[in-house]
Amino acid sequence: MKKIMLLGSGELGKEFVIACKRKGMYVVACDKYAKAPAMQVADECEVFSMLDGDALMAAVEKHKPDIIVPEIEAIRTEKLYECEQKGIQVTPSARAVNFTMNRKAIRELAHTELGLKTANYKYAKTFEEFQQAADEIGYPFIVKPLMSSSGHGQSKVDSPAELQKAWDDAVAGARGDIKEVIVEQFINFDYEITLLTVTQKNGKTLFCKPIGHVQKGGDYRESFQPMPMTDEHLQAAQDMAAKVTAALTGAGIWGVEFFISNKDGVYFSELSPRPHDTGMVTLAGTQNLTEFELHCRAVLGLPIPEITQEKAGASAVILSGVETECPDYVGMESVCEAPRTYLRIFGKPVAHVGRRMGVVVCYDKLGTPLDEIRDKCKALAAKVEVK
Ligand SMILES: Nc1ncnc2c1ncn2[C@@H]1O[C@H](COP(=O)(O)OP(=O)(O)O)[C@@H](O)[C@H]1O
Ligand SMILES: [Mg+2]
Repeated sequence: MKKIMLLGSGELGKEFVIACKRKGMYVVACDKYAKAPAMQVADECEVFSMLDGDALMAAVEKHKPDIIVPEIEAIRTEKLYECEQKGIQVTPSARAVNFTMNRKAIRELAHTELGLKTANYKYAKTFEEFQQAADEIGYPFIVKPLMSSSGHGQSKVDSPAELQKAWDDAVAGARGDIKEVIVEQFINFDYEITLLTVTQKNGKTLFCKPIGHVQKGGDYRESFQPMPMTDEHLQAAQDMAAKVTAALTGAGIWGVEFFISNKDGVYFSELSPRPHDTGMVTLAGTQNLTEFELHCRAVLGLPIPEITQEKAGASAVILSGVETECPDYVGMESVCEAPRTYLRIFGKPVAHVGRRMGVVVCYDKLGTPLDEIRDKCKALAAKVEVK
């Protein structure tokens, strides 16, 4: 039995812990608040700010894990190099976790070093630099803090009149002490995908079928698999995913994000060195192994003989419309009544307006039109209300 320390205990962590428990592992789930989803299924938990390096190292000293699995980006990630030096396995690697938590680091690696095709981009540290970057990139563009996730501080800017507000929002939405932003050419893509990619300790890199998704305000609302793509575009995405994950090193699952323009081809956007929220569609049984089972096997160095697409499926999120402690859920019956459907409530102890509290996943035979499954899934998710 190995001891796994999970840094971040949200809904993705919860499913990962379930996969690990099914392999007989011992899991210590950490987060900055108590009763987080993954803590509810773990052996032990620790509550501390993972951005506090001393607190992080104290927890590592106390529990002496064999493996550290980061589930979120808001971690004092430099400390993970120290952990690796102590002989602890960091998932997928301290290098991967450090690069991907900063948009500049990963963009420089992907675009400048590896030559992956991305949107044009510039960085800005002050409002004057921001104005200049806007002039060079042109309108519309997207601005994002270098360190942020789930749409925090991100906006689309259509004209110079919107610059000041966009700058203020970006600075306010940044995580950590870096006040720098990235200005990205707006890609008018036809669709976007997550390509779940699995790197293994002893084995070749594997790809799941692409997952299409829809984002609003920089946060995911629905996802669906398998997203149809041309062989040429799929091959381009797989080549880029293989390159960037190899350069970042380590074993685990990665959510590699791409924008696809039928006219201009495939753009690399960003990647997560961990299960991806849009990959919750695999909880519908779309694949022989969910993204969580795949991550668990890759982390433990267990074989993955193949990844097969078993069904078509969709996921749709349940967001809270209210602020409340001890949330209740109205409408669960409507979802459970529906065939080929699963309801997953994350069990977050507190609801905030716009917070993701659960997900509905639906599946059907391969070949069923995705729109049909998506519409059903969205309609069912809309029936669940957080009270
Ligand atoms: N350059 C861009 N052009 C068009 N849409 C974009 C661009 N950058 C981001 N987006 C949209 O915003 C979403 C979130 O952006 P992303 O860079 O993935 O941030 P996060 O780290 O918060 O997930 C993307 O999935 C996409 O829908
Ligand atoms: Mg993203």
